[in-house]
Amino acid sequence: MGTALVTGATSGLGEEFCWQLAAARHDLVLVARHRDALDRMAERLRWVAGVRAEVVPADLARPEDVERVAVRLDAQRGDGTGLAPVGLLVNNAGFGLGRPFLEDSLGREQAALDVMVRAVMVLSHRAGRAMLARGSRGHGAILNVASVAADTGMGTYSAHKAWVRAFTEGLSVELAGSDVTATAVCPGLTRTGFHDAAGVDVSGTPGWAWCSAEQVVGSALDAVRRGRVLVTPTPLYKAAGRAARLAPRWAVRGAVRRLPHM
Ligand SMILES: NC(=O)c1ccc[n+]([C@@H]2O[C@H](COP(=O)([O-])OP(=O)(O)OC[C@H]3O[C@@H](n4cnc5c(N)ncnc54)[C@H](OP(=O)(O)O)[C@@H]3O)[C@@H](O)[C@H]2O)c1
Repeated sequence: MGTALVTGATSGLGEEFCWQLAAARHDLVLVARHRDALDRMAERLRWVAGVRAEVVPADLARPEDVERVAVRLDAQRGDGTGLAPVGLLVNNAGFGLGRPFLEDSLGREQAALDVMVRAVMVLSHRAGRAMLARGSRGHGAILNVASVAADTGMGTYSAHKAWVRAFTEGLSVELAGSDVTATAVCPGLTRTGFHDAAGVDVSGTPGWAWCSAEQVVGSALDAVRRGRVLVTPTPLYKAAGRAARLAPRWAVRGAVRRLPHM
């Protein structure tokens, strides 16, 4: 997979993706909004893991920033840019909204849609085309971070993650027969900065309900290496996802009413 580009690389799952990929000797391109955090992360990856690490500061809610990241994905060997081609795109950046749709501002809701849907679409399009152009059957992998929330009705966050999962399945069908793959990972509750950033109170959540970032990222990268299309890390959330798909929708909506807004 050579060089991997990870969005949301400065915290939580994105940071863990970088460390596990660096441990497997992948060079990295790190994307997030805050330049200082990106530079610190890149420096640690160079010194601790001995890999190359570039940074592309970008707010993925802004189309012009998404385009700058997309241009990095266009790079091919020998195209004169001197940039290493990206062999793995990890569309990971995202955030929770933490309040009901009608109580939220439309601006915040649109930013969430832009980061978790529009940017995923644009970057997958550019990376997919560049990867397919390599060799006779193409070469590369796209990994999109969805959520078990895709099976529930937890507001617009669920809708965005359901889009990511359906989109990835469609892309994998389109890529069948090539050496480019598409995978969606559907994590359950994972200990990261996500809930604090969204202002979601998870203090009442029991310890057994949490996954670690190491578990989620380990399962996701294993699925990419095996060319699997969908993966839900940990037995607890595999069972929860299956139950949500089999249960009557009124029962799922009833259960969701008791949960905090994501
Ligand atoms: N934690 C969970 O329980 C859980 C469960 C299922 C799925 N997920 C999904 O996992 C992914 C990673 O979340 P996490 O849990 O690791 O959260 P996190 O710790 O809050 O990390 C989010 C990352 O995304 C970046 N980011 C946020 N807004 C951005 C924007 N507008 N443009 C570019 N980068 C942006 C942040 O960096 P900057 O602030 O510097 O931009 C940060 O690096 C998300 O897609 C989330 O929906 C999380």
